[in-house]
Amino acid sequence: MPEIHVVRKDNRHLYEHYFDPYYRLRHEIYVKQRKWMALDRPDGREMDQFDTEDAVYLFCIDEGQLIGAMRALPTLLPTLMSDIFPYLNIRGPVRRADVYELSRIFVIPERRGEHAGPRVEMLLLTAIMEYGISIGLTGFTIVLESWWLPRFERCGWKAHPLGLPQMMDGMSVLAVLVDCDDATWKSLCRQIGLTKPTLTWRGLGGVTRQALPDLSPPLPLTAQQAQ
Ligand code: COA
Repeated sequence: MPEIHVVRKDNRHLYEHYFDPYYRLRHEIYVKQRKWMALDRPDGREMDQFDTEDAVYLFCIDEGQLIGAMRALPTLLPTLMSDIFPYLNIRGPVRRADVYELSRIFVIPERRGEHAGPRVEMLLLTAIMEYGISIGLTGFTIVLESWWLPRFERCGWKAHPLGLPQMMDGMSVLAVLVDCDDATWKSLCRQIGLTKPTLTWRGLGGVTRQALPDLSPPLPLTAQQAQ
C-alpha cells in the first residue's frame, strides 16, 4: 500500500530529492492538464509564494514514486484565502493556530479512481485528518471548486461555507472551513479499511504530537471474557 509521509521543515532534508518531481507534477497537472495558466512558470515547476519553509506537505509515495500530495499552511501566516481570495470569506480571513489551510491536493492520473487498495485521494483525505488531530488542529480552511462539496459529504468531511460561491475562470469557487476531529478520522479509516494510523513521521521524533490509537475492531465479548 502507498505510504503517506509528513514533510515539514524539520525533516525536509530527507525528502529533498522529491521536491523537483513534486513541483514538476504540479506544473503538469495544474498548468498543462487543468489549464490554470496563472500558475504557469517558464521553468516547468509550479510553485508559489506559499511554498515556504512553514508549509507542511503530505507526500503519497509508492515504491519510491510520488503518486499524490497535499499542502497545508498555518493560517497565522499568509494563505491563499487571506492574500489571494479574501473576498470569498465574508467574515474576513481565518487566522487561528488550530486551523491550517489545505491546497494543491492531487493524485497522478494513472492512480486516480478505484484500484485494488484504498483510493489514493481517500488516503490523503484520511491522512490529513490524522495529521490535524495529531498536532491539535480543529479545522482546515480550503478555497475549492464546488464539485468537492458532494464528495466531502459522501466521505464524511464536514465542510461549512464561509461565503457564497463565485465564478472564476468558468469555475464555481468557494471558501469552506472543514472540521478536523477524531470522529471524522475514525469514520474515514473505517471506510477505507485502515485499522491504525497511517502517517509516516520520518525524522520528526522532536515534533510534539498526540499518538493516535490503533482502531482494530474490539474482540468479541466471549474472547475478551476468556482472557
Ligand atoms: N471538475 C469536476 N469534477 C471533478 C474534477 C474536476 N476538475 N476532478 C474530479 N472530479 C470529480 C468527478 O466527479 C469525477 O468523476 P468522473 O470521473 O465521473 O468525472 C470524480 O471527481 C473522480 O475523480 P477522478 O479524477 O477520477 O479520481 P480521484 O477521486 O481518485 O481523484 C482528484 C480526485 C481531485 C485528486 C484528481 O482528479 C486530481 O488529482 N485532479 C487534479 C488536481 C486537482 O484538480 N485538484 C483539486 C484542486 S487543488
